[in-house]
Amino acid sequence: MNTKEEIRDVRILAIESSCDETAAAVVENGRDVLSNVIYSQIDLHTLYGGVVPEIASRKHIEKINQVVKKALADAGLSLEEITAVAVTCGPGLVGALLVGVSAAKAIAFAAGKPLVGVHHIEGHICANFIENRDLEPPFLCLVVSGGHSHLVMVKDYGEYEILGRTRDDAAGEAFDKVARAIGLGYPGGPKIDRVSDQGDPEAIAFPRAKIVDNVYDFSFSGLKSAVLNYLNGCQMKGIEVNQADVAASFQKAVVDVLVEHSMEAVRRYGVDRFAVAGGVASNSHLRAALEEACREQGVRFYRPSPVYCTDNAAMIGVAAYHEYRKGVRHGWDLNAVPNLKLGDRV
Ligand code: KG4
Ligand code: ZN
Repeated sequence: MNTKEEIRDVRILAIESSCDETAAAVVENGRDVLSNVIYSQIDLHTLYGGVVPEIASRKHIEKINQVVKKALADAGLSLEEITAVAVTCGPGLVGALLVGVSAAKAIAFAAGKPLVGVHHIEGHICANFIENRDLEPPFLCLVVSGGHSHLVMVKDYGEYEILGRTRDDAAGEAFDKVARAIGLGYPGGPKIDRVSDQGDPEAIAFPRAKIVDNVYDFSFSGLKSAVLNYLNGCQMKGIEVNQADVAASFQKAVVDVLVEHSMEAVRRYGVDRFAVAGGVASNSHLRAALEEACREQGVRFYRPSPVYCTDNAAMIGVAAYHEYRKGVRHGWDLNAVPNLKLGDRV
């Protein structure tokens, strides 16, 4: 196979199991999603108010083969027609990651296909390439998920510089914790997003944290405490809490900080393209605020459809394509790395 043919015909079977979604997808040439199967375990974990790692791992084991089979069937491809098998190898819950990694290794070994391990956050960033065919590095990307909040300069495919990160809670984590505190339950992000449509974002003045020694870093634990203090105060004074107002005011505080820090970096680094990624990127208020801010700055704004913001395997297939093109292949000793840093090689 010459290089040109190889680049034109790369079909990747990708697997994602880092948290509570069991997912598999087939992606062609790093842009075309031929199938995207997601089995969400959300209902199972809702009972416990959050993801229970042991339950997630067990469910992944039950579902992984069905999900992979469906991804191949939906793409109309046999395993023989696949170029390589890719899998999220970190970061994430170790037991959950291990299911995907073991399945990918077994499939790749049995089918005689190369194996490519992918960084989960790299996958989130690459989700932007699926529907935005004109998007190419360099660009600035805000990655906001349940476990991460990063402001990343995407210098080239697979080449990242982290400009800022959260000092404590991730943005999604803050959404989930506040949602629980105001009685919305799990998963908090989508529920706060919906409920806040009925609330007044200016009703309660929650704090916006500024980090003195790095203007691009984030901190959300003070905001979370402020919400809890507000709720306790209301309870002590016998004041009825307006759930929608708390949700809207909290969300506005998160969105304001994310937008402000992002635009600070846009100006400082002089980029002309800005993208958002991760589960929180599906938040309708954040999307609208970033779009508006990018318009004001004269910067093109990119975001994936909500289905490619939250965990999915298509984004892993896109990231794997660029790794594959660079010649990255992993051995049968590929392991799950729960705290894998962006840019670290496994
Ligand atoms: O990227 P993701 O699916 O998983 C991780 O890699 O963590 O992100 C999940 C996070 C959860 O915290 C969830 O509450 C949040 O994304 N999320 C949202 C929305 N949809 C999901 N947060 C705010 N607004 C949403 N619409
Ligand atoms: Zn994720």
